[in-house]
Amino acid sequence: MLKKILKWTGRTLLVITLLAIGYYTKAYITVGSRKSKVYAVKPIRLDIPTDSATVARGKRLVTTKGCNDCHGSDLGGRVLFEQKGVGRLVARNLTKGKGGLPQDFDTDDWVRAIRHGLQRDGTPLIYMPSAGFNKLSEADLKAVIAYCAQVPPVDRQNPPSEIGVGATILADLGELELFEAEKIDHNAALPMAIREGVTADFGKYVSQICTGCHKPDMKGTPGEGGTPDISSTGQSAGWTDEQFFQTLRTGKRPDGTELKAPMPWQMTAAFSDTEMRALRMYLKSI
Ligand code: HEC
Ligand code: HEC
Repeated sequence: MLKKILKWTGRTLLVITLLAIGYYTKAYITVGSRKSKVYAVKPIRLDIPTDSATVARGKRLVTTKGCNDCHGSDLGGRVLFEQKGVGRLVARNLTKGKGGLPQDFDTDDWVRAIRHGLQRDGTPLIYMPSAGFNKLSEADLKAVIAYCAQVPPVDRQNPPSEIGVGATILADLGELELFEAEKIDHNAALPMAIREGVTADFGKYVSQICTGCHKPDMKGTPGEGGTPDISSTGQSAGWTDEQFFQTLRTGKRPDGTELKAPMPWQMTAAFSDTEMRALRMYLKSI
């Protein structure tokens, strides 16, 4: 009797193992083909100004759009996440130093990466949040590139990003968005310039970089490790304007609790008064 049970347990385990291997093989192949898909995108042609006012504007945008958070304040790049069995996410060195961009990385390459989430060869970048940058105005995009293209070289050899077993499964299940290129409308026109002011329109523009985590409707994602609802139905809608600004400037909520990673409050701390007020107006309107 015992022998029989052991035999059946063994067979069941074997079947489960084979199923798991079968599933993983399928996930590995699917994710691999998503990663090597070539997007035929024609980047818009831009002439990049080099005047100091544009470069200064770009420097500010690189902070307020979050580039510094991931790529570092010197843009030399850094490892964002690394765990054995899961994978490694690395924001690249965006300077022309050792371990950085190729010397001939040109304006088209910048546009392809920032607006489309693609590398030079047309395959998707991993985890670069380009969906939030796709609708940057032409003026803002130019300023970002003007600044990035002239930063002092940083010699830093970062390891490459790697999609491990865990990340492959999560990506296959749709629990982890690795390739923003997949959700971008690559033919969308970009606005020339945005009128800055305390308007819901400008607030919506500012909020584009929040959509990757808080979702386009700003209702967030429920559950463990999710993001809160920051629209008119979220708890933050009940804060006073001052409390809301204070939270995004200091990383501390009105009740004293801290905004935990990955909420990039160092980015929102750099928002101007106009950006904060417009953002607040927009979030309360939806
Ligand atoms: C959430 C983190 C994050 C933010 C914010 C971010 N990046 Fe990235 N970026 C990455 C990662 C990760 C990669 C590397 C992807 C890879 O290895 O495939 C990357 C790659 C790039 C590349 C491609 C370089 C190459 O070798 O082709 C450029 C250019 C770039 N980012 C520019 C920017 C700019 C400009 C901003 C701000 C407007 C920005 N990034 C914001 C994470 C980020
Ligand atoms: C990389 C992902 C990410 C991005 C981008 C992001 N957030 Fe968050 N945000 C979070 C997470 C995660 C939390 C919850 C943090 C915690 O649990 O302490 C959070 C919390 C918040 C809260 C507190 C809400 C509450 O009810 O406690 C506000 C307000 C907020 N974010 C606003 C913004 C705004 C505005 C933007 C865009 C300018 C933005 N976030 C961009 C991930 C993000």
